[in-house]
Amino acid sequence: APDIDVAAVQAHLDALQQIADENGGNRATGTTGYRASVDYVTEQLETAGYTVTEQPFDTFGGESYNITAELAGADPSRVVMLGGHLDSVDAGAGINDNGSGSAGELATALAFAEANPNPSVTVRFAWWGAEEQGLLGSSHYVDSLDAAELDRIDVYLNFDMIGSPNGGYFVYDGDDAVEGTFNEFLATRDIQTAPTTVGGRSDHAAFEDAGVPIGGLFTGAEGTKTEEEAQLWGGTAGEPYDPCYHSECDTTANIDPTMLDNMSDAMSYTVWSLTAPETLDDA
Ligand code: PHE
Ligand code: CA
Ligand code: ZN
Ligand code: ZN
Ligand code: ZN
Repeated sequence: APDIDVAAVQAHLDALQQIADENGGNRATGTTGYRASVDYVTEQLETAGYTVTEQPFDTFGGESYNITAELAGADPSRVVMLGGHLDSVDAGAGINDNGSGSAGELATALAFAEANPNPSVTVRFAWWGAEEQGLLGSSHYVDSLDAAELDRIDVYLNFDMIGSPNGGYFVYDGDDAVEGTFNEFLATRDIQTAPTTVGGRSDHAAFEDAGVPIGGLFTGAEGTKTEEEAQLWGGTAGEPYDPCYHSECDTTANIDPTMLDNMSDAMSYTVWSLTAPETLDDA
């Protein structure tokens, strides 16, 4: 699997920060900052040879857009899908929430296009709009699929906040094989993970409700780091995983680059493994 260069992920975060700076300080639904974020990701993907599909939908805050791009697999009946939300809240630039997942995913998409543009199964990348309005983009997308299209999706992996500055290595308690693959990779870096129940708090929810196996990574939001977690992962017990959650200070300074690197590499490794022929044989 490609090792994702954290400098590439951070370059995408710098671009999203600049977009916020030039558009009133945020990248929220219905704003020019969100539109510019969509254009940035689209441009990056197209330069790498992807065809990008834009799916517009209406919200109470104005029009929003999902974007998807894929590497078509030899077996059209199987799709491994991943995504994260590209919108921010109004309060700030949304660099950890969720520039981090968006940028890690973009770096992974660009690395996969170089490393294996013709995978055995389809790898589909999504960037969701209007998560902060109530998971609107991912819900709209799942609702737009007919039964056959939905059935093609073997698994959906979600990445919402993967660089929290006082973070933890949380793996969604979802599909056990996916959890095992994330854990296996992070164990090679001597990182112990903890399972987390994300419930309805992010964009995997619509997929889970539709019966698609799910997984994902998370480094923590407004919750408080425990003593045990600080022993395990470092950082400060008694403080939030992300003290700038949904705040103006969620900037490029609000990122732990080591955590961002490890989680981006875990994303790449796991998506790569799920699309490898040996995984599929016994799936
Ligand atoms: N979805 C939340 C947000 O965007 C963040 C979050 C993700 C919280 C996963 C809990 C678990 O604000
Ligand atoms: Ca790396
Ligand atoms: Zn949020
Ligand atoms: Zn989020
Ligand atoms: Zn489990």
